[in-house]
Amino acid sequence: MSKKKLIAGNWKMNGSLEANDALVRALAAGTKDVACDVVVCVPAPYLAQVQMLKSGSRLELGAQDVSVHSNGAYTGEVSAAMLREFGVRYAIVGHSERRQYHGETDALVAEKARTALAHGVTPIVCVGETLAEREAGQTGEVVKRQMAAVIHVNGHCISEIVVAYEPVWAIGTGQTASPEQAQQVHALLRQQLAAATAHAERVHLLYGGSMNAANAASLLAQPDIDGGLVGGASLKAPDFLQIIAAASASAPAAGRTN
Ligand code: PGA
Repeated sequence: MSKKKLIAGNWKMNGSLEANDALVRALAAGTKDVACDVVVCVPAPYLAQVQMLKSGSRLELGAQDVSVHSNGAYTGEVSAAMLREFGVRYAIVGHSERRQYHGETDALVAEKARTALAHGVTPIVCVGETLAEREAGQTGEVVKRQMAAVIHVNGHCISEIVVAYEPVWAIGTGQTASPEQAQQVHALLRQQLAAATAHAERVHLLYGGSMNAANAASLLAQPDIDGGLVGGASLKAPDFLQIIAAASASAPAAGRTN
């Protein structure tokens, strides 16, 4: 069986009970026959609502962060075990907004990935360079450093994670990496994973950063782009469904197995 593409929506700090209801119902109805996996990563207070709304559909539930701690005196944190109780299968870890605004380090991100895996939650580990780093020719170095920390801590479990390459300069800016730029970094990441595990081909490498209905197909056609992490466009059902349709239609690379 070929590896299915994976499309994850990152709602960020958006939504309301009313808006979520309409969005999730439309997505559930529109994904009945799709040939890819679809996840919605929702704000923590809405997990219960979306868990109920998505029931019976193909949609999977995701969180946008997870605590590195298992339980205890950590005010404001949400543990992986709590996420599991609401049927959460995925958690975004190390999004650039958390690295930037919440001081998350490579080491913390790696530990969060480990905590998630230990509780049966698949971490979607985000890596990506800033514009200054790209212009300084440091893209490869930066993403490899971010990835190395995760590989170091997660060892033989590394093939169970999902990775999202999200160039910081492309997030929410409308400026997308070209398919070639994205593929170049994805190939680097695949190589790095291959040095750590015999199962690097199994790992879903998502692209994120202004992915939309118009550019999704060309990005998803790249050999090492196995899906997308979608912010703004995941809040509008027609847009997100078009991205899902593109992922569904794009032929998986030959020889890949799930
Ligand atoms: P964007 O966000 O699609 O709005 O650029 C992607 C992300 O931050 O995950």
